[in-house]
Amino acid sequence: MTAPRLDPDQQRRLVETARAMLDKAYARFSHFRVGAAVLTERGGVYGGCNVENSSYGLTICAERSAVFAAVGAEGSGMKVRAIAVCARHQGRDQAASPCGACRQVIFEFGPEALVLFQGQSGPQQVSVSDLLPGGFRL
Ligand code: THU
Repeated sequence: MTAPRLDPDQQRRLVETARAMLDKAYARFSHFRVGAAVLTERGGVYGGCNVENSSYGLTICAERSAVFAAVGAEGSGMKVRAIAVCARHQGRDQAASPCGACRQVIFEFGPEALVLFQGQSGPQQVSVSDLLPGGFRL
């Protein structure tokens, strides 16, 4: 069962929050800024950005940073209703969908969560289960 699409106001608020997070990104190595915003089932909105590190592998993606902020705010029962993602490189908007690791983390907290992102041919709104068929569950 796929979650209903977001109404236009919810969608606008979520995408605006994700875009605002682009300015907070710590992307001094790739210069590829990513912003994300989670909408929880409770109606909370929480932003995240990518945070890179001199030890490159320690970098955290914007999507995971937003999901973890939501857990920190609402606790372990937090459920992701939707997450918006946007990216910018050298001042230009970029198409970007969540990486595999982030798909699994989103799936953990909302297997039917909607993922809003800029695809190669325009804005996309798809469920995380479509992006990650057969996501892992314990
Ligand atoms: N990045 C994200 O924040 N989210 C993704 O889903 C993929 C990649 C970040 C990590 C790194 O800081 C930069 O984009 C380039 O890979």
